[in-house]
Amino acid sequence: MIGTARSDVHVTITGLGAHVPERVVTNDELSRLVETSDEWIVERTGIRERRIAADSEALSDLALPAIDQAFGQSGLGGKDIDLLIVATVTPDMMFPSTSAILADRLGATEAAAYDLSAGCTGFMYAVAQAYGMLAAGLARRALVVGGDVLSRILDWKDRSTVVLFGDGAGAVVLELSEEPGFLAFELGADGAGGEHLWLPGSGSRLFDDPDEFVKMNGREVFKFATRVLVQSGEAVLERAGAHIEDVDVYVPHQANVRIIDHATKKLGVPSERVVVNVDRYGNTSSGSIPLALADAQEEGRLRKGSLVLMTGMGAGLTWGSALMRWTMAS
Ligand SMILES: CC(C)(COP(=O)(O)OP(=O)(O)OC[C@H]1O[C@@H](n2cnc3c(N)ncnc32)[C@H](O)[C@@H]1OP(=O)(O)O)[C@@H](O)C(=O)NCCC(=O)NCCS
Repeated sequence: MIGTARSDVHVTITGLGAHVPERVVTNDELSRLVETSDEWIVERTGIRERRIAADSEALSDLALPAIDQAFGQSGLGGKDIDLLIVATVTPDMMFPSTSAILADRLGATEAAAYDLSAGCTGFMYAVAQAYGMLAAGLARRALVVGGDVLSRILDWKDRSTVVLFGDGAGAVVLELSEEPGFLAFELGADGAGGEHLWLPGSGSRLFDDPDEFVKMNGREVFKFATRVLVQSGEAVLERAGAHIEDVDVYVPHQANVRIIDHATKKLGVPSERVVVNVDRYGNTSSGSIPLALADAQEEGRLRKGSLVLMTGMGAGLTWGSALMRWTMAS
C-alpha cells in the first residue's frame, strides 16, 4: 500500500513520549547466561545494553508513563481521545486488548480502542491507520502506542535471540492541523517469509514443539531488513515528490547497527541525520521508532519544519514508512 496524504486535510503529531523499564541488562550480564560475549554482540549488532521489564510490569505499565509525556506535550487527556491503537505482539493478555485496558486507566471513555499486530512494524501500521481515521473524519484525536515486552517471549537459553531484544514503549498523539504533518505512507507484507521470524504455538495453530518462544533465521531477516529499509524509504520519498537530500531526520527501525548503517549508506543519508539508540535499548519491536523519535526530540533534533523519514520492518514479514513534516516547536 502506498499513498500521499490528502491535500485538504492535515494530520500531525502533537505529543510524543517514551518509557523503558528501569533494569539495565548489559552484554556482560548476558554472557553469564548464554555462550556469548560483549565483543561479539557489539561487533555483530552494535547493542551494548537493553532494558528488561520487572515481573510486575506488563505492556500497559510501560505505556502509561509514555502516554503521560505525550499528553503533557499535546495538552490533551484521556477524555479528549476518540481513537486508541496499541501496536504490539506482547499485549498484557490476548483479551481484553491492552488498548481497552489503557482506555480504562486513562478515562478515555469516548475512544474506540484496539490492538494491532504487525511485528516490529506495528507502530508504523498504527500511525498510518490513525492518520486514515482522522483524515476520513471518523476520529479527531488519536493516541497511538507502540511497545513490547519481548523479554516475556524470548528463550533465555537461545543466544541467537536474547542478545537482540529489549523492552520499551512509546506514544504519540495525532490531531488535525492547519499545516501539513504527514505527507505519505508506504506499508507492505510478505507472508512467504513469515517463518524467518515467528512465534509458533502462540495461537490456534497446533505445533508438535510446544515452545512459545521467538524463533528467528537471523541471516534471512538481515537480508530482508537491509532490502526493505532502502526500498520502502525510496518508495515513500518518490511518492511524496521528495528526495533523500531533503530528509533532515531519518528514523529507521532499531534492530542492529549494521542493518542501519547498510540502509543509511544505500539511501545516501548523511550519518549525522540518522537517529541511532539501539546501542542502549536493543530492538524494542513496536517501541523502537517512537523511542528513537523521543530521543531525537530530547536532543533537539526535531525542529519545526524538519522533514522526518521513519521506516520500520519486522515479523510478518512486514515493513512500513511514513514521511512527515515535524510541526511541533523544538
Ligand atoms: C542475528 C545476527 C546478529 C547474527 O549475525 P551474523 O553475522 O549473521 O551471524 P551468524 O548468524 O552468521 O552467526 C555467526 C556465528 O556466531 C554464532 N552466534 C550466534 N549468536 C551468537 C551470540 N549471541 N554470541 C556468540 N556467537 C553467536 C553462530 O552460532 C555462528 O556460529 P558458527 O559460525 O559456528 O555457526 C544477524 O543475523 C542479525 O542481526 N539479523 C537480523 C535480526 C533482526 O534484526 N531481527 C529482528 C528484526 S525486527
